[in-house]
Amino acid sequence: MTRAPLRLVVLASGRGSNLSAILAACAAGSLAAEVVAVFSDKAKAGAQAIAHDANIPACILSPAGFASRLDYDRALFDEVDRYRPDLIVCAGFMRVLSAEVVASRTQKLINIHPSLLPKYAGLHTHQRVLDSGDTEHGASVHFVIPALDAGPVIAQTRIPVLPADTSETLAARLLPAEHRLLVDTITLYAARRVEHEHGQVLIDRIAQKVPQTF
Ligand code: GAR
Repeated sequence: MTRAPLRLVVLASGRGSNLSAILAACAAGSLAAEVVAVFSDKAKAGAQAIAHDANIPACILSPAGFASRLDYDRALFDEVDRYRPDLIVCAGFMRVLSAEVVASRTQKLINIHPSLLPKYAGLHTHQRVLDSGDTEHGASVHFVIPALDAGPVIAQTRIPVLPADTSETLAARLLPAEHRLLVDTITLYAARRVEHEHGQVLIDRIAQKVPQTF
């Protein structure tokens, strides 16, 4: 029996290269999914133009005018829910989400973060890797929980840190690996193989002790 494609809503604040990677995989038929809407908190987000060009509803909801983070998040997710997403992907969505909107979506809210979590939650991850003298860097896709970048990690990708690396070269070398990581993780999810239960990632109903490596 063939399943309906996974309905994806993508949240993105910036450039949108991860969104492009998802769209390319959908168009190539390698990812059984469709992006049904893209939401941004910033009008100038590149992701908005990408969605526009792909004829996907491109929605901007600015936090200005909302009295609190929670008010904004409730309004945002009310809109998101109208698209009946199977999975909501934070792809460079640079806002901390309120516990309330996260807690009611534990199975279907994921985020890509440019570090080997639990290392380097938060910002400036590439520079922090260099400052720490790490020999390895990477990215993680995790289920979102109320604590920032702390949800169970589904999958990671790793790259070496080279002696001449700057935060810019590291970020540039990591980006294509991020794209593959995100697409491969969503592919696993689209096969209905990934779940989030009791703070753990389950794959094929088996609790994972370590993240998948893509
Ligand atoms: C990506 O590198 C993603 O890992 C990062 O933002 C970038 C978005 O790029 N996410 C975070 O830092 C989340 N804390 P993109 O707009 O080109 O997809």
